[in-house]
Amino acid sequence: MKVVAGNWKMNMNYKEASALFNSLNNRLINDVEVILCPPSIYLSEFSNKLKNVKLAAQNVSSFISGAYTGEVSAQMLKNIGVDYCLIGHSERRALFNETNEVINTKIHLLLENEISPIFCCGESLTDRESGVQNEIIHNQLELGMNGLDLTQLQNCIIAYEPVWAIGTGLTATSDQAQEMHFFIRNYLKKRFQIENEILSQIPILYGGSCNAENASEIFSKNDVNGGLIGGAALKEDTFSSIIQSF
Ligand code: PGA
Repeated sequence: MKVVAGNWKMNMNYKEASALFNSLNNRLINDVEVILCPPSIYLSEFSNKLKNVKLAAQNVSSFISGAYTGEVSAQMLKNIGVDYCLIGHSERRALFNETNEVINTKIHLLLENEISPIFCCGESLTDRESGVQNEIIHNQLELGMNGLDLTQLQNCIIAYEPVWAIGTGLTATSDQAQEMHFFIRNYLKKRFQIENEILSQIPILYGGSCNAENASEIFSKNDVNGGLIGGAALKEDTFSSIIQSF
């Protein structure tokens, strides 16, 4: 499966968000799953209009329900027709103190509510400079996806997002991306004892300063099944050309 997801983060006012959503949603897009991750306040309205794109929430509560002011539950997201949710994004890990354990709780809640997690993992610049990136990713996958079985894994998307490449304009080279994607796929193969055919169907996306210029080179790699796009997802023309980069 080829996937391009646009993570809008906390950007765009209502008018801008509606215009971008409508134009992407009305385009026929062959052969690529396009997932938009708008701020949660827009999800309900957009979900009533879905045609050619899918919706992802950017976050979900780690609690089921109750007195948790400001939180939105997995069940609520499901009720309004949200199919995916970002989990473990580096901004949530760094700015909102999300631990691997919290991320794991959220993944289980999402899957129980039939929402597919888009599980983000990635190492910092210091980690990469010290050469420990594989250990870091291994740890994030091991703890974040703790307790999942193969069927549940098959409902997940993985996004490799090196923290040093997010919003910085520094992109991993296509070889660096391929190397890590191969490492992740190999990890999943061993951990879940998966046959190659099923393994190849688990989407692993690259994220981090992916744009209209570098997407086709990155997407051409064997183990890269698409991208999780931040800044370049905020403009229709750049995001559209990324979608056409396979
Ligand atoms: P970026 O963000 O494309 O702006 O680097 C990617 C992301 O944070 O998902």
